[in-house]
Amino acid sequence: MENLVLIGFMGCGKSTVGVRLAQALQQTFLDTDSYIEDRQNTDITRLFAEKGEDFFRDLETACLKELLGEKQERVIATGGGIVIRPENRVLLKQLGTVIFLKVSPQTVYERLMHDRTRPLLQGENPLAKIEKLLEDRSGYYEEAAQFVIEADNKSVQELTEEIKEMIEKRGWRHESIGD
Ligand code: S3P
Repeated sequence: MENLVLIGFMGCGKSTVGVRLAQALQQTFLDTDSYIEDRQNTDITRLFAEKGEDFFRDLETACLKELLGEKQERVIATGGGIVIRPENRVLLKQLGTVIFLKVSPQTVYERLMHDRTRPLLQGENPLAKIEKLLEDRSGYYEEAAQFVIEADNKSVQELTEEIKEMIEKRGWRHESIGD
């Protein structure tokens, strides 16, 4: 499969960059968080509160498996914790080219300090939470990704261009729908 899969921590820009990239490549875009919210007819905050994180992680795995079973190729943005499960890291690679948008804890903090939609960052000392989660996960992102893009201090436009150039240089097979 030749999906383009964006991974990385909360607030790294996966969804915004993913939408732009899909437009630039004339591909369709899918966000695993939105996919799960649509299917469950609720939002992430509620899902975490009512069913717990493990239940959500099961849904992420199910989502990746479903996407793998589909013929359609897309630009896919993923939830920041999708890499935690070893099984998901394998599924991500099977889905296509995996690109890690790498950001510093400070960038995440600045972008998300007023955000109320990320259950894992609510409560006391969000910066410490970000630092801890990033430290726990960075090896997983690196393991799952073929490409790493430094995403601090870059605009959505710049990141989109950089990814596009990179995949074109490496001969990424680009077939838009209907080709
Ligand atoms: C999570 C990231 C979120 C969402 C959920 C859990 C995480 O997605 O899946 O809140 O564990 O990092 P974004 O990375 O799109 O914010």
